[in-house]
Amino acid sequence: MEGTTEKAAVTETPRVDQLPGELKYIKYEHKLEAEYLPAIRALISKDLSEPYSIYVYRYFLYQWGHLCFMALHPVDSSLIGVIICKLEPHASHSPPTLRGYIAMLAVSSQYRGHGIATELVRRAIDAMAQRDADEIVLETEETNIPAMRLYERLGFVRSKKLHRYYLNGNSAYRLVLLLRSVDDGAATHYPLDDRGIALR
Ligand SMILES: CC(C)(COP(=O)(O)OP(=O)(O)OC[C@H]1O[C@@H](n2cnc3c(N)ncnc32)[C@H](O)[C@@H]1OP(=O)(O)O)[C@@H](O)C(=O)NCCC(=O)NCCS
Repeated sequence: MEGTTEKAAVTETPRVDQLPGELKYIKYEHKLEAEYLPAIRALISKDLSEPYSIYVYRYFLYQWGHLCFMALHPVDSSLIGVIICKLEPHASHSPPTLRGYIAMLAVSSQYRGHGIATELVRRAIDAMAQRDADEIVLETEETNIPAMRLYERLGFVRSKKLHRYYLNGNSAYRLVLLLRSVDDGAATHYPLDDRGIALR
């Protein structure tokens, strides 16, 4: 969903060499909206080429808050990273599949390169796999090298190039992580490793 790269260079903040301690990873809950939704919007819109309205965030968080994870600063609990997902039947496959979708992912620029996004994506994959997702998909801008590397390292593969997908004219790749084989209708779940990644 996200088109990202254009503003990233403008808002670059010096990276920290070390994390300030062990981050807290928590699942989003509705009671946290007042405390964290403004920070979630600020963090994501900082790197977005197409900012979303509050309704887009609520669409995801009201229905699939249990698939949203946040990384918090160990001292002041401020937001450092977030991932927002959904999980729905996908009817254009026959038989329909249960498709997970990673809609938004961002880590504060000063804390990048410490495995925070990796941990957030793993938790999201795990939560969707536990709810019987057949596959997980997402789109990312073709020029977003850090995101492409991250997802491909976690087992996602390129399934389609989406030409001029974003309003800014940039193209995207659709990436997919298959959690179970649906080729012959005989549904087989791929075993997951201890981090929730499909072993194929
Ligand atoms: C893409 C983005 C989410 C990555 O976040 P990140 O926290 O820096 O990602 P990670 O630290 O998990 O991975 C980055 C690199 O650090 C490495 N790394 C460093 N320390 C690590 C650790 N302790 N554990 C795991 N990986 C570590 C990873 O191996 C990875 O290397 P790679 O480039 O070879 O894949 C971040 O750059 C971002 O927010 N960008 C702007 C928004 C965006 O593009 N979102 C994605 C849209 S789909």
